[in-house]
Amino acid sequence: KNIVILISGRGSNMEAIVRARAAQQWPARIAAVISNKPDAAGLSFAQAHGIPTAVVDHKAYASREAFDAALQDTIDGYQPDLVVLAGFMRILTCGFVEHYAGRMLNIHPSLLPLFPGLHTHRQALAAGVSEHGATVHFVTAELDHGPSVLQARIPVLPGDTEESLATRLLAEEHVIYPQAVRLFVEDRISIANGEVRIAETTSI
Ligand code: GRF
Repeated sequence: KNIVILISGRGSNMEAIVRARAAQQWPARIAAVISNKPDAAGLSFAQAHGIPTAVVDHKAYASREAFDAALQDTIDGYQPDLVVLAGFMRILTCGFVEHYAGRMLNIHPSLLPLFPGLHTHRQALAAGVSEHGATVHFVTAELDHGPSVLQARIPVLPGDTEESLATRLLAEEHVIYPQAVRLFVEDRISIANGEVRIAETTSI
């Protein structure tokens, strides 16, 4: 199976997936790491690991549709079985999302459906919740609302700040995102009428 990972910055989730694939010998390869930002730090990590990279700079396109079309062409050049959004900070058009229906994942740093959108740690602190987390979900046209695959939960501790929450949560993201990708490439995830089913298995 071919995995294409999209990043916009540091790419720590991409890095976690790259490392897990190698360590656990998944039946898949990282076909490419693609960014909308030419200076995305994650690109050098991918290059250092011999993974093809590409940049589709959104500033070079007159419209969201034109950018998405160029991005789709670039992605499809790698024949993806799975597209992984990992810290990819673009809102994608319906046409793009439909093209990858059922084979595009995202990770959102909240316990969806709680706190969609940006600044999720700030939202969690403002809401005074005692528990926070991250969600790996299939991407659908409705932002941050696709069927959930896996979630990680962390306690909100007294004195927590946006930074301390983000740091503690990122460590959990690096656990569940590789797990979710592995489930997909090992054909242990299916979606039936908007619900995700994970095949019975001995261990993830
Ligand atoms: C993470 O908080 C992730 O949940 C969100 O983007 C942030 C940065 O991710 N999607 P990364 O380090 O670029 O993978």
